[in-house]
Amino acid sequence: MTQNQKKVYIKSYGCQMNVYDSDRMGDALLDKGYQKTENPDEANLIILNTCHIREKASEKVYSDLGRALVHRQNSFDMGKRVFIAVTGCVAQAEGREIVRRAPYVDIVLGPQTYHHLPEMLEKAANVVLENPKKGAGLVYTDFPLESKFDFLPEIYEVQGVAAFLSVQEGCDKMCTFCVVPYTRGAEYSRPINDILKEAERLIVLGVKEITLLGQNVTAFHGMSPDGTKEWSLADLIDRLSLYPEIQRIRYVTSHPRDMEQDIIEAHRHNKKLMPYLHLPVQSGSDRILKAMNRKYTSSDYLNLVQQFQDACPDIAFATDIIVGFPGETDEDFEDTMKLIEKVKFCTAYSFKYSPRPGTPAATIETQVPEDVKDQRLYRLQALLNQQQIDFNESIVGKTISVLFEKPGKHPGQIVGRSPYLQPIHVIGSKELIGQTKQVKITSREGFSMMGVLVNE
Ligand code: SAH
Ligand code: F3S
Repeated sequence: MTQNQKKVYIKSYGCQMNVYDSDRMGDALLDKGYQKTENPDEANLIILNTCHIREKASEKVYSDLGRALVHRQNSFDMGKRVFIAVTGCVAQAEGREIVRRAPYVDIVLGPQTYHHLPEMLEKAANVVLENPKKGAGLVYTDFPLESKFDFLPEIYEVQGVAAFLSVQEGCDKMCTFCVVPYTRGAEYSRPINDILKEAERLIVLGVKEITLLGQNVTAFHGMSPDGTKEWSLADLIDRLSLYPEIQRIRYVTSHPRDMEQDIIEAHRHNKKLMPYLHLPVQSGSDRILKAMNRKYTSSDYLNLVQQFQDACPDIAFATDIIVGFPGETDEDFEDTMKLIEKVKFCTAYSFKYSPRPGTPAATIETQVPEDVKDQRLYRLQALLNQQQIDFNESIVGKTISVLFEKPGKHPGQIVGRSPYLQPIHVIGSKELIGQTKQVKITSREGFSMMGVLVNE
């Protein structure tokens, strides 16, 4: 085997930002002779790109590390040594603790130091020369002054016609339940010229839909390419939509506090901007919203929804909701249910509150008992599921645009997405992949929709 055939297996947990980061780490390793693999059995390097947002997400890392160790042990029989790295927000939050609990780990890197991965690998290889059974135990979780984006190579590979583009990272909002400000650091926007360069690269690779990513994407701002004016996310979206190859633009995730008039206007005038908005509300109770430090009320949120609907009548809303935040009473929970009834979400992510070490809410004494959280989550999810079904039903019989992404499971079938991210299955030629076509929706099957191409 030559040096060129080393393989890296990267497992991503959590948010889309982690998926993006995993791809970029894979790209950085291509230069070092690593190919990406989906099969951990054939890997020389296993990277767990972790999520710390809720307790369950971080605990999973240690059980997966146990599995990685088995791969290492088996690899000696095959005449190789598997390297194990932990990256992402658990790495940032726990740092050296990971090496203490799992001493076989070679590398621990926080989200802002991925560009050091290739050199850390070289170091780790030297450290383990004497005793390959031991982990190298290298930890690097500083927040360096330089930006990783300046050091990562350009994108080499994309998975299809829809791609993520990271424009903003970190968060200063300090919601009292959230670890992101501690693990991802302060708000940072990438320079606009770099973003445009990356978009052009994606276009060359065949991308037709770009989702702009940020922990707080609507906080994005930056100097215009000619250096004369401060641009907002809306300005960036308008600029990106000038590329004829780009058919669709999305952005995620927004904070209700940062939604300025210009992004509402962008939904009115920019036809490439999809009529879909992920706008986490977290709770419908003003008392809880205050304790969460969200800095809006439920009526502020409803007003915002109304403004978007006025600008873009076919817009649909997705959201995130937490039940059982400390001190949440039955009445507070009912307020959340009422807000959901009013908005009617097309999709929602709902969670039981999970105390995160180091966050203010974790030390509040009035924690809600687990069984109460379970009951609330059950009722909440029943309502949200019904809303999703109603929303999906509401497009049956309508003609909507679909960007085709891949072949379907059945012969002759292709699958694309509606503006609302619903998977749409039609009978059609593979040549349509990468194109946006009008489709008449004929039926709903579970969370998928069936349709037929409309002759234009
Ligand atoms: N703006 C961010 C939100 C990050 S966390 C982004 O999407 O990148 C994603 C969601 O996880 C939050 O909106 C919140 O609903 C949930 N969440 C965060 N911390 C949590 C906690 N401690 N317990 C339960 N859910 C939490
Ligand atoms: Fe977390 Fe609140 Fe920021 S949820 S990512 S602190 S907006």
